[in-house]
Amino acid sequence: QLSKTEILARKNAEALLGGGQDRIDAQHKRGKLTARERIDLLLDEGSFEEIGKFVMHRTKDFGLDKEYYLGDGVVTGYGTVNGRLVYVFSQDFTVFGGSLSETYANKIVKIMDLALQNGAPLLGFNDSGGARIQEGVLSLAGYSDIFYKNTLASGVIPQLSAIMGPCAGGAAYSPAITDFILMVENTSYMFVTGPNVVKTVTHESVTSEELGGANTHSSRSGVTHFACANEIACITRLKQLLSYMPQNCEETAPALPYEPADELRPLLDSIVPENPNQPYDMREVIAGIIDADSFLEVHENFAENIVVGFARLGGRSIGIVGNQPAVLAGVLDINASTKAARFVRFCDSFNIPLLVLEDVPGFLPGTEQEWRGIITNGAKLLYAFCEATVPRITVITRKAYGGAYAVMNSKHIGADMNYAWPTAEIAVMGAKGAAEIIFKREIAQAEAPEAKLQEKVDDYQQKFATPYRAAHHGFIDEVILPSETRQKLIRAFKMLENKVATLPRKKHGNIPL
Ligand code: COA
Repeated sequence: QLSKTEILARKNAEALLGGGQDRIDAQHKRGKLTARERIDLLLDEGSFEEIGKFVMHRTKDFGLDKEYYLGDGVVTGYGTVNGRLVYVFSQDFTVFGGSLSETYANKIVKIMDLALQNGAPLLGFNDSGGARIQEGVLSLAGYSDIFYKNTLASGVIPQLSAIMGPCAGGAAYSPAITDFILMVENTSYMFVTGPNVVKTVTHESVTSEELGGANTHSSRSGVTHFACANEIACITRLKQLLSYMPQNCEETAPALPYEPADELRPLLDSIVPENPNQPYDMREVIAGIIDADSFLEVHENFAENIVVGFARLGGRSIGIVGNQPAVLAGVLDINASTKAARFVRFCDSFNIPLLVLEDVPGFLPGTEQEWRGIITNGAKLLYAFCEATVPRITVITRKAYGGAYAVMNSKHIGADMNYAWPTAEIAVMGAKGAAEIIFKREIAQAEAPEAKLQEKVDDYQQKFATPYRAAHHGFIDEVILPSETRQKLIRAFKMLENKVATLPRKKHGNIPL
C-alpha cells in the first residue's frame, strides 16, 4: 500500500514522462527537445510553476478510454525570464503527437486568461499533429477558443509563438494572430494543408520543408519573423525579443542604465555616397546611431528593401523602420509595406517609440504590383503611421520622393520630430524624371535636347533636391549633420517621453486589409 505522499510522487513522476521514455527518445532522435526541456531553457532556473499537470482527456471513443497521459499533451504554467513574469504553454509531441483535445485547449485558455488579466506576455511552443482526430468537433472548438483569446489579447499583452515541430491546418492560425513567430530550420513547418493534399489538389510535388519550413516562411511568405538554426538559438532569440518589450500595453519597456556622454559619431558622416544613385547599407546608419550591438532585426530575409527591428538608444527600447537603399534602391512595394506596417502597429500597441530612417525613391511601379494591390497595401503603412501615438521621429538621409515622403512618417501624418541630413532630397520625384515631364516641350524644341535636359535637371536639382524647401516650411524641424544624429535623437526621445496623444473615440479603425 502506497502512502498518500508516495501516490503524489508517483503521479508527478508519471506526468514528467509525458508519452513515455521511448517517445522522448524518439523526439531527441529527431533533433528536437521535449516540451519540458524547452520550458527549462526559456525560464529562469527554478522559476517554473506548472498549472494543470494532472489534467486528462475525457474521450471514450476509438480506444482512448484505455489511453491516458497526465497533462494530456501540453505543459502550461508561469515563470520568469530575466526576472520578469511570463505565461507559457508547451505542446508535448510525445503525447498523441501533441494533438489538441478539449481539455488540452482548456489548459491553454486558462493561462491565456491569467496572462490577460495579470498583464504579462504569453509564450507558446508549438509542436503538434493538429486537432486530436479522435475528438472531432470538441477539438475544433478548443482551437476556436484559443483563436478567440489570442484576438482579445492582441494589443494587450505581447504574444510570441515558437514553432518547434509540425503546426498544420487550423493550428497555424493561433501563431498567425500572435505578434511574432519564430521557426526552427529543418525541424519545424507550418502550412494550411500538407504536401499530400497539395499533390492531390494542385499536382505539385513539394517537401514539407519547401512548402512550409523556416526558410520558406522567413523569406518567401513572411509568415515567420525569425528562422533559427536550432532550438537553443530559437529560445535565446525569444528571450532577447522579450527584453525590448513591456509586460503589457499599459507599461513601457524596461530601460538599461545610460549616462549622457559625448554622443557624436563622425563615422556617420561618410556613409551616404556623393552620387545619389549609389546604394549604401541602411544597417550601417542604424549601427552608427544606436547603442552598441543592440539591433535585433525582425523579418531579416523578407522584403529586404525595408529594414525593421528593435534597438536601444541611450538605454531605451525603440523600434526602427528604415528604407534599404542597398536592395531595390529602397523602393516601397507590397511586401515592404505590410512588413513595416505590422511592425509599426506592434510598437505602437506596446508604447515602443519609433525611429524612421528614410531614403525612398517611391513606390515600385508595374502591373505585378498594381494588380496585387500596391494601393491597398501601401495604405497599410500610411494608416499604421497615421494612427501611431507613440513618440515618432524621422531622419531623412537622402531621398524622400513623392507619396512615399508622406507615408514614411512625415510631419503631416503625426511625426513629432523630423530631421534631415544635408544630403536629403525632398521632392515629388527625382530631378531627371521631373525635368523630363515639366520641360518636355522646351527640351524637344531645343537645338541640343540633351544639353537642355541636363540644364533643367541641374536647375531642378538645385531648387528641390535639398532639405531646405521643406525646412523653410517647418516640415523639417532641423537639418543636422549625420554625426550629430545620435545626440539629437537621444535628446528628442527624452523630450518626448511623456507624450500624450489620443485618437478620436471609435470602436476600432478600419485599416485597409
Ligand atoms: N490526433 C491524434 N493522434 C495523433 C495526431 C492527431 N492529429 N497526430 C499524430 N498523432 C499521434 C500518432 O497516432 C502517433 O501516435 P503513437 O505515438 O501512439 O504512435 C503519434 O502522434 C506520433 O505521430 P506520427 O505520425 O508517428 O509522427 P510523425 O512525426 O511521423 O508525423 C505528423 C507527424 C503530424 C505529420 C502526423 O502525425 C500527421 O500527419 N498527423 C495528423 C495531422 C492532421 O491531419 N491533423 C488533423 C487536422 S488539423
